[in-house]
Amino acid sequence: MADRTIIRTTAGAPWVSNQDSKTAGPRGPLLLENYQLLEKLAHQNRERIPERTVHAKGSGAFGTFTVTHDITRFSRASIFSEVGKTTDMLARFSTVAGERGAADAERDVRGFALKFYTDEGNWDLVGNNTPVFFVRDPMKFPDFIHTQKRHPRTNRRSATAMWDFWSLSPESLHQVAILFSDRGLPQGYRFMNGYGSHTFSLWNAQGERFWVKFHFKTQQGHRFWTNDEANAVIGQDRESAQADLYEAIEGGDFPRWTVFIQVMEEAEAERVSFNPFDVTKVWPHAEYPLQEVGVMELNRNAVNYFAEIEQASFSPSNIVPGIGFSPDRLLQGRLFAYADAHRYRVGTHYESLPVNRPQIAVKNYHMDGPMRFDAPEPGDGEYYEPNSFGGPVEESAAMEPPLRINGDAGYYEHRTDGDDFAQPRALFRLFDAAQRERFFNNIAGAMTGVPAEIMERQFALFRQADPEWEAGVRQAVTRIMTGLSSSAPTTQGD
Ligand code: NDP
Ligand code: HEM
Repeated sequence: MADRTIIRTTAGAPWVSNQDSKTAGPRGPLLLENYQLLEKLAHQNRERIPERTVHAKGSGAFGTFTVTHDITRFSRASIFSEVGKTTDMLARFSTVAGERGAADAERDVRGFALKFYTDEGNWDLVGNNTPVFFVRDPMKFPDFIHTQKRHPRTNRRSATAMWDFWSLSPESLHQVAILFSDRGLPQGYRFMNGYGSHTFSLWNAQGERFWVKFHFKTQQGHRFWTNDEANAVIGQDRESAQADLYEAIEGGDFPRWTVFIQVMEEAEAERVSFNPFDVTKVWPHAEYPLQEVGVMELNRNAVNYFAEIEQASFSPSNIVPGIGFSPDRLLQGRLFAYADAHRYRVGTHYESLPVNRPQIAVKNYHMDGPMRFDAPEPGDGEYYEPNSFGGPVEESAAMEPPLRINGDAGYYEHRTDGDDFAQPRALFRLFDAAQRERFFNNIAGAMTGVPAEIMERQFALFRQADPEWEAGVRQAVTRIMTGLSSSAPTTQGD
């Protein structure tokens, strides 16, 4: 037998027994001096980090992004610098509401988080499989998430809370429509699109800014489960999406997405009839056609799920020169939330971990704190700025072009900003008869047990989008209440 490495304590001493604890006599109590037992138990106590407050259940894989079309007229970002250029990347897909042990085949929005290890730093695009979101102001996000999580008293998810919030937040209707459509329950992460959702900006070498939306279209085709199919899948395998992604990559069947952008010139944003920075709206394809950029391929599974996927830390605040934010107020709120979550969930120096670390050397003036396990550079005389010892300096060439902002500071009413019904209506009218039937049943099943006045308030929103939508859901609710439909509820609780 080949020589085997001996176990050592974390301090490097040989580990003398890993099967028997040290006791006072063969049947006596343990001795506190058995430090190796103490170390082993103490390490086990620290094997978990807090799960993500949302998107806790997920799967990830590594791959590449390759440019297929030139967009240097829009962006000077090095990732787009030439056709054929390939950049390493990481993707993490997730459901939103469930905890880390939740079943994959649940009706929910899917996270579509990407980290591109570009040669000018990491660019993270932390999107979803939907082009829009439930709310458009970050002030509403924690309340919205509370309605998706467990009720504080019953400790069960609450359909009442969900529909109460949605019916009082008409801007949610568009995302609610997608959630209860076929695309709300994909068969796996390979079979769905990804969207940056927000409006972002690109800026070119001439300092011109363009507003953009990012789209990742699956090359595997869209595949979905019905509620009944999903319930059967969960009965067999709670990790169905993890298994599908992992096995496909292990078998060399690498999933791919074609990457597109929609583009709007900077000045045009002030002229369009809708608010282009409202994340509850899409930009119609007819007016803003998709322009192809490249292809994303996932081709390598993580070696260690915890180290590389659980500790992966994606943040919309991670941009690189040539890519920027926009005035979208939900995006602006997210710029704070993620890095703050990472410092709490993973640790102060989370970006030093291999999975989060840029592929280029990083020098700055951050110093000590938990997880400072490397020796920071600069480490000699130049540990403050300004200094006379050749420490790193700022790079003003990476500064994005100035953005004209005007307006008086105030708490502006966002709830009446635009038409919340036209785009859900357009989506509803895309559904064929069979899609509509499933859609009505999915909604009705999820409304089981919700008080009548809340249902009526939500029906009024459906009616404003399309009277046929309201009528279809009412009929489906009646069928469920009279026992004529077996449609299983998709959410649990009161
Ligand atoms: P188009 O007819 O040009 O686009 C329709 C879009 O709807 C396609 O991108 C299609 O995606 C997508 N789609 C089809 N079925 C569903 C579904 N069940 N859930 C979500 N998306 C679906 O029209 P418009 O651009 O004018 O958009 C009309 C409506 O389509 C919008 O109000 C919006 O709800 C939805 N939509 C629009 C998108 C956009 O960026 N304009 C993006 C996604 C949805 P695919 O091509 O992959 O099949
Ligand atoms: C995860 C906050 C809106 C997509 C998270 C996390 C937080 C958060 C705190 C956990 C991060 C972590 O622990 O690593 C917020 C806030 C929002 C918001 C405050 C609105 C104000 C959105 C929107 C999208 C989105 C609009 C998509 C368009 C994601 C994804 C993840 C995530 C994909 C999981 C990332 C991963 O895989 O690690 N969000 N979020 N979120 N969020 Fe949001």
